[in-house]
Amino acid sequence: MFSRNTIQHARVLVASLWVLAFTACTGGTEYVQTTFHPVTEYGEVQNAVFRNTFWWTLGILVLVIVLLLFVVVRFREKPGAPQPKQIHGNTKLELLWTIVPAIIVVLIGVPTVQAIFETQRRPAADALTIEVIGHQWWWEFNYPELGVRTANLFYLPVGRTVHFQLHSADVIHSFWVPRLGGKRDVFPLPRTAEGERTHHNHIVLQVDSAGTYRGQCAEFCGESHAIMAITAVAVPQAEFDAWVASMRHVAPAPVPADAAAPQPDPGAPQGAADPLVEEGRRIFLSRACIACHAISNTTAQGRVGPDLTRFALRPTVGAGARPNTQENIEAWIRDPRALKPGALMPGAQVPAGAFPPTSLSDEEIRAVAAYLRSLN
Ligand code: CUA
Repeated sequence: MFSRNTIQHARVLVASLWVLAFTACTGGTEYVQTTFHPVTEYGEVQNAVFRNTFWWTLGILVLVIVLLLFVVVRFREKPGAPQPKQIHGNTKLELLWTIVPAIIVVLIGVPTVQAIFETQRRPAADALTIEVIGHQWWWEFNYPELGVRTANLFYLPVGRTVHFQLHSADVIHSFWVPRLGGKRDVFPLPRTAEGERTHHNHIVLQVDSAGTYRGQCAEFCGESHAIMAITAVAVPQAEFDAWVASMRHVAPAPVPADAAAPQPDPGAPQGAADPLVEEGRRIFLSRACIACHAISNTTAQGRVGPDLTRFALRPTVGAGARPNTQENIEAWIRDPRALKPGALMPGAQVPAGAFPPTSLSDEEIRAVAAYLRSLN
């Protein structure tokens, strides 16, 4: 009936599906963006909705397929067999297939609506506020109560309620760190006359175990949407406090207008520093870099691009474009768009948008990269 070829194909197909089914089932924490191992109650509530819906719908699928196969086999056309009995209307069956699905919908619907309300809870007054701002294509994190600003990698304390206030600086993005739970759009929202944002989206959660959790933008937002990674680092409160102290923005005292000689920079490293790092620091603080970037305790206070305080902590360059290595930072400074299409930062020889090239030489790029590597 079937050719040998068809049977061969069918065997390969079944074997592949078998392998696929079992690889998909291992879903452990080695997958950094798994949604199945949340470290927050907030994530667990959502996971419970998923599990409940999954098992009900899987049961329905199995029932329908089994019934279908039964009918197909039982009532198939056989030579000489009479026509099966024709049935029109069956009150018992009709009641059954109306009432049972209605009950299942209630069993899925009620816990879902409960979970929606639970995950929309307003934060307690003592919650730690973290303002999350999506940019094309990087993330800004502000801690208004702590005077800390950072980008792409942020810290949060274990065991304390955190209140994320989300909005966008340009187009719609979506904040998603799967193991924290959630995924919520960030919108560009109009400001009031006083410059206040009129509305934010919110996520309120508490992380229960320390760890590093990767996330990414989950709403298509332009050509480098896929290169918009987030690193969330959850640490015990004491470690968090130490991080805050190291990140706090302290701008150096303004230089008096009549000062004859430049004042010493309070951010200057104490003692003997690597001459290359020192050279990079001097270049960074005297060239176009500071128009866009900030580094705490230095004169760099730009707000256009990502804050670079403690840049060496970040696992990647360009919010996920490349691993954070000397070579890759150099490549980034030389031509950001070669690593990340559409990036707004100009390169050494190439402009970007309204920004002219930085005109840094290869030696200067090497020094600036070494300086950024030293910000640990
Ligand atoms: Cu931001 Cu996609």
